[in-house]
This record gives sequence, structure tokens and C-alpha cells, in this order.
Amino acid sequence: MGKERGRDIGGVAAASPIWLAPIAGVTTETYRSLHARLGAALVHTEMISAAGLSRNNAKTARMIGGRCGVPTVLQIFGPDAEVMTRGAEAALVMGRFDAIEINMACPMPKVTRKSGGASLLHAPAESCRMVAGLKRFGLPVWAKIRKTEPGHHPLSTGDFVSALIEAGAGLIIVHGRTPSQRYEGAADKDAVTAMAAKFPGMISASGDFYAPDDAKAYLDGGCVSVLAARGAMRDVFLIPKTLSSLGFPTEEKYLNMSPPEQINLLAETVREAVKNEGERFAAVMARKLLSGMLKGVRGAARLREDCASHRDWPSLEKALTAFAIAE
Ligand SMILES: Cc1cc2nc3c(=O)[nH]c(=O)nc-3n(C[C@H](O)[C@H](O)[C@H](O)COP(=O)(O)O)c2cc1C
Repeated sequence: MGKERGRDIGGVAAASPIWLAPIAGVTTETYRSLHARLGAALVHTEMISAAGLSRNNAKTARMIGGRCGVPTVLQIFGPDAEVMTRGAEAALVMGRFDAIEINMACPMPKVTRKSGGASLLHAPAESCRMVAGLKRFGLPVWAKIRKTEPGHHPLSTGDFVSALIEAGAGLIIVHGRTPSQRYEGAADKDAVTAMAAKFPGMISASGDFYAPDDAKAYLDGGCVSVLAARGAMRDVFLIPKTLSSLGFPTEEKYLNMSPPEQINLLAETVREAVKNEGERFAAVMARKLLSGMLKGVRGAARLREDCASHRDWPSLEKALTAFAIAE
């Protein structure tokens, strides 16, 4: 319970401003639990299709998953307020969440073609209707957006944020890349902190959080929280390192784990994934986790190569155990 208490950020009590981002195909229940354990004060589901939720399909139910001891935000995407409301209603029957977040940031055609994600930056009125419509569930409603492009989108980033707040959004997460940049080029941290200065207490940051100083720059710039995305995948221990570096409470044991301890943590997590998400997903997760662990450890690159050829968890586990014993 202690972990759930903290400062009110966007209507949710979070113990620190270092959070786990929504990452499609990654932030399942097991992955969220791992990062909650490592110190993330709030976690996100991956983006879930509101239309899929209201059709009650098995895949979306699996994405909902369970809770993990820290506030959890449901992120959904869809084309209009009606679809989003029906999707949220179905999701709230399946799981318990602390806030509902609208994805207005995903630039991938499979989402934008259906008028969801970043295509909403072209539709401010519908985006505001979504926010207003989702308020009926009594949870804070958040939006994750990208920096808009002058001459391409109807509103500046500031005017878009302002409209969403006026419609009732409790927090806006700003990713400092435009949709056409996708995930390339540097994130524009100044554009994000300019929003934080303009809308105090209302802006969270996303983009290029790879080291504690990146989070510090966002927080010093007035952002109320920072989301770890690719940084946490490249270095599984980014969140505890950042908490420690910025003076937030953190569990010492995650700061300097020996290689066998890291492998043990990986194996524990993957065994959970076998239960929660199934054997196939678990093997993929094992390889992803391994790419963000054992940094600078002799033989780790060879182990990663070796593990790439193992398709199932039992054989991966054997290779990992052999490495841990040899260490
Ligand atoms: C593989 C991948 C999947 C992502 N999935 C989502 C998603 O489901 N919802 C979302 O809002 N953002 C998603 N993002 C964007 C991240 O949450 C984050 O905003 C972006 O990666 C910028 O942060 P970074 O530069 O620190 O990685 C995804 C990013 C990546 C790389």
C-alpha cells in the first residue's frame, strides 16, 4: 500500500516522478510488475484498441492484465469519442486502473489509418470530445501527444494542450518529436519544458530518457514526471539508477546486481511471463530483457547471440543458468 501513496500528479498519487511509458508489445502485466519492483512509481498498459476492447477479444483482455502495487494507467486508442467510451467501459469491467489515457501520439499507419493515435493531432475538436466523454467514469483522463508541426496540424502544441486541459484532461504527456519523425532524430526537450512552463503542474515528459540527467533536465524544466521507454529497454536498471541519482528512495539491491543476480531476476520475471502471457511471449521477453542486462559483463555479447538461436524458454533458461554458474 505504501508504494501507492505519494504526491498527487494529474489526480493520481505517485511516490516519485519516474514512470514507465506505454510500449506496445512490451508493457504487459509481467513487464509492468518488474519495473514497479525496480522502482517505477507508475506504469502504463501498452496502447489497447478501444474497438477491440468493446468486441471483448482475447488479445485485448490479455493486454489489460492485473495490478502490480503501483498506480496503473490504461492507455487506449480509437477514432472517436463513442468508440473510446465503449472501449473504456469494457476495460474497466476487466481491470482496475488509476487513470485513462488517450493515445494521441502513435505515428504508425496501422493506428493512424483508422483515425487514432497521432492522427488526432489533426482533429482537436474530436480529441476534446474524447476527453470530455471519458470523464464519465470518474477517473482522471490523460492524453499522450506529440509535438505538432506548424503548417501541417491545425493547432500549435500549446493551443492543442490548452484545448485538452479546457476539455477536462488532468495531465498531458508530451513526446518532443513530431509524428513524421516517428522514433528518429533527437527529442526536442526544450519544446516539452516550454509546455511545462506554460501549463504548470500539467505536463509529463517523454523522449530520449536514457540516463538520469535526461530525467533531471525534464524535471528541472518543470515537468511533473518523466516516462522511461527505450531507455528502460536498453538498460533494465535505468529507473533505480535515476531514482538514486536524483535523491528519491530506491532499493539499493537493484543498483549493483551481480551477473548471477541479474540472471536470477530475469528468470523470475520470465517464469511469471510464462504464467501471465504464455510461453511464446515469455521467450521473446527473455531476449528483450537480456539485451538490457549484463551491461559491460564479459561474455554477455556471446550469451545474447547464443540466446538469439533458442526459440523456447526452457532452452533459453538452460543457457542462462550455465552462464550464471560459470560467473
Ligand atoms: C516499440 C515501441 C512501442 C511503443 N508503444 C507505445 C504505445 O503503445 N503507446 C504510446 O503512447 N507510446 C508508445 N511508444 C512511445 C514511447 O512511449 C515513448 O513516448 C517514445 O519511445 C519516446 O521515448 P524514448 O525516446 O525515451 O524512447 C512506443 C515506443 C516504442 C519504441
